[in-house]
Amino acid sequence: MDEPNPLIKRAREVALRAYAPYSNFRVGAVVTDSSCTVYVGCNVESASYGLSMCAERSAIFAAIAGGAGRPLTALAVSCIDATNGATPCGACRQVIFEHLATDAPIHVDGVGQFTPTELLPYAFGLTSGATIARTSGVED
Ligand code: THU
Repeated sequence: MDEPNPLIKRAREVALRAYAPYSNFRVGAVVTDSSCTVYVGCNVESASYGLSMCAERSAIFAAIAGGAGRPLTALAVSCIDATNGATPCGACRQVIFEHLATDAPIHVDGVGQFTPTELLPYAFGLTSGATIARTSGVED
């Protein structure tokens, strides 16, 4: 088997720390900033299911709280209990779009590499016309 991307390796390690007793679906994520500092996150579930937090958003929020430079430069995510990998959920795609650079690689373990816009074309923005123009070239 090919040696995984080093960020995917880190994401797999972080997934081992997930608190996922309800879904048994452990996810780890890492993000980097332009100084190559790595921030990590895992999913943390709650008995009140809707309060659970995904790994990708945990990592991004940890980066912001930790003083990372924006925009973040890369993200890797690993769902170690998925049979064929799993891509980020819709909520995480919106947050990825906001905090990752336009051309940042989003490495998804077992699936492939994407840009934020590939994961969420026509993302929501408070000035949505401007957001669409930035991401897809459509004029407002
Ligand atoms: N989960 C993530 O951590 N990231 C995603 O992008 C999708 C889902 C978590 C949430 C929950 O703890 C478990 O996976 C099952 O949905």
